Amino acid sequence: MIDKIEALLSEVEQMSATNTEELEALRIKFLSKKGVIPSLMDDFRNVPSEQKREIGVKINELKQKTTEKINLLKDQFENKDSGFMDIDLTRTAYPISLGSRHPISIVKEEINDIFKRLGFSISEGPEVEDDWHVFSSLNFADDHPARDMQDTFFIQNDPQIVLRTHTSSVQTRVMEHTQPPIRIICPGRVYRNEAISYRAHCFFHQVEALYIDKDVSFADLKQALLFFAKEMFGEDTKIRLRPSYFPFTEPSAEMDISCNICGGKGCPFCKHTGWVEILGCGMVDPNVLENCGINSKVYSGYALGMGIERITNLKYQVKDLRMFSENDVRFIEQFKSAN
Ligand code: DAH
Repeated sequence: MIDKIEALLSEVEQMSATNTEELEALRIKFLSKKGVIPSLMDDFRNVPSEQKREIGVKINELKQKTTEKINLLKDQFENKDSGFMDIDLTRTAYPISLGSRHPISIVKEEINDIFKRLGFSISEGPEVEDDWHVFSSLNFADDHPARDMQDTFFIQNDPQIVLRTHTSSVQTRVMEHTQPPIRIICPGRVYRNEAISYRAHCFFHQVEALYIDKDVSFADLKQALLFFAKEMFGEDTKIRLRPSYFPFTEPSAEMDISCNICGGKGCPFCKHTGWVEILGCGMVDPNVLENCGINSKVYSGYALGMGIERITNLKYQVKDLRMFSENDVRFIEQFKSAN
C-alpha cells in the first residue's frame, strides 16, 4: 500500500491541466466521493494496526498535496485569460494572400525602362509646388488662357502655392541647378480641378521627358518618340505628329499612335479615326531655358509629357478611370500576370 501511495504522490506532483475541464477531471479522479483518495481511506480500515500510523501519515500527505496542487492549477486559470491556454501554437497559419502591383505602377515602370535604355535618368519633384515652377517659369503669362486649361487647387491665403498640374514643373527644378547635358524623365502624380467622372479625375499621373544639349533637333525628338511607341505598343505601331500649342515649347506637337485596339481600322476607342493621341511634345522654348539660367544660344532641347492612365488604358482597356484609385483588390488582382 505504501508503494501505491508513493506512486500516486509522484503522479500528483507531475500532474498538469491545459483547461478547466481537464482540471475538473483530475479533481474527480482524486478527491470525489468515489475518487482515489476516499477509496484509500476505505482500504485503511483493513491495514494491520502496527502499520496504521505510517500509512495514515502518508494518506494525509497525499490528500494535502493533491488539494494544494489542484488549487494551484485552479489559480493559474483564474488569473489568466482562459482563452490564452487554448491557443494552439502548432497549428499551421492561415495563408496570407499576396497582392499584385497596381497597373499604373506597372506601366510607369515600363515607360521608365524604355527611356532609361535611351540614357535618361529619373528625377522627381514636389507635388505641392509654387506658381513659378508650374506656370511662370514655363512661359505661362499671368493672364494667358493656357492657365485655364490647367485649373488647379490653390491655397486661399497664399495663391502662389499650388498643387502641380503637370510634371513639367520638374523640368524647371532640374534646369535651375544643372547645366546641360540634361536627359531626365520625371514620373509623378498631378492634380487638376476637374469634376470626377469615368473619364476625368482630380488627380492622375504623368511622365515628362527632357533632353537638353548642344544641337538637339526636332529629328532627335521624332526618333525618340518612334522608338518609345514601338517599344511600348509593338513594332507595327505608327506615329503621327500634329501641330499644337504649349507655352513652354516652340514648335509644339501632339503625338498620335495608330490605335492598338483595332490596329488602325477604326473602333469606338479611337472614335473610328484609327489614331489615338498619347502625348504632347516640342522643342523647349528659349525663354524657358533662359528662365532657368541656360544659354539658349548654345543649347537647345526637346520635351514631352504623357498621361500614364491614358497609356494604361491603351494597354489594358480600363473603361472607368475611377477604378485606378478605388483600391478594389478584385480590380488590382487582375493585373497579377502582368507583374
Ligand atoms: N505638360 C503638358 C500637359 O500636362 C504635357 C506636355 C506637353 C509636356 C508638351 C511637355 C511638352 O513636356 O513638351 O498637358
